[in-house]
Amino acid sequence: MADPVSYARLQKRLTPAARVTVITGAGVSAASGVPTFRGPDGLWQSFRAEDLATPEAFARDPYLVWQWYDWRRQKIAACEPNIAHHVLASWQHQFASFTLVTQNVDGLHERAGSENVLRMHGSIWEVGCSRDCGKVPHRWRDDTVPFVALPPRCPQCDAPLRPGVVWFGEALDPDIVERCLMATNCDVFLIVGTSAVVYPAAGLVDHARRHGALTVEINPESTPATRSVDVAIAEPAEVVFPRLHDRLFS
Ligand code: APR
Repeated sequence: MADPVSYARLQKRLTPAARVTVITGAGVSAASGVPTFRGPDGLWQSFRAEDLATPEAFARDPYLVWQWYDWRRQKIAACEPNIAHHVLASWQHQFASFTLVTQNVDGLHERAGSENVLRMHGSIWEVGCSRDCGKVPHRWRDDTVPFVALPPRCPQCDAPLRPGVVWFGEALDPDIVERCLMATNCDVFLIVGTSAVVYPAAGLVDHARRHGALTVEINPESTPATRSVDVAIAEPAEVVFPRLHDRLFS
């Protein structure tokens, strides 16, 4: 178990009056069976991101890109939220303010009951018209698993639909980014299950520290964030969150 001092420091600041912000990465869903990206069995070990997760890759071969996303949707659909997702969902009304930011597109936070999740990289459960024809919403939810034909087509202009995720090289939703930055003005900032190498998500912890937040990393491995956080708990999220929850609320 991580040293009890780490838990005590965090527990002391997690009071009902606290403003709490959490950012999660793929590690929070690892216990649910959703592959991470950069771990030993990570998706980027078996696939090349530039072949599958860029606008250029999609323009080059929408069928190949959709084969990969349709496979990931099927895999994720078979996964359940784990205890870390459930504890985070239960915390949303326990503090003066609670903001959950995620880099994940798997939707497991929402399936566990988290509301108003700030999804920095979009959702694998949303689609949009790749031609932005304007005759359909920018993004809408489509739970079809698996799609009968790939790529799925825009119902209005018949262009290929695209996954509602943010690809490498694409801009994030500026409104989401602004709300994430505002949420770094908090008392406790938890960075959970992320390799902290993809910006702007990885930069939020620095903003939180400048706002005077207690910054805490929860990750079995060290990352570029480890040396700059106040507390580093080198344990899996599915171990830390129930343990923290018991200390705080039982
Ligand atoms: N609990 C906590 N952390 C864990 C666990 C666990 N059970 N299992 C793995 N981790 C940690 C790993 O040590 C690693 O640091 O989760 C992190 C996962 O890192 P990545 O696979 O790089 O995922 P992430 O940081 O979310 O990637 C960021 O990169 O590929 C893009 O858009 C994609 O949103 C993604 C972004």
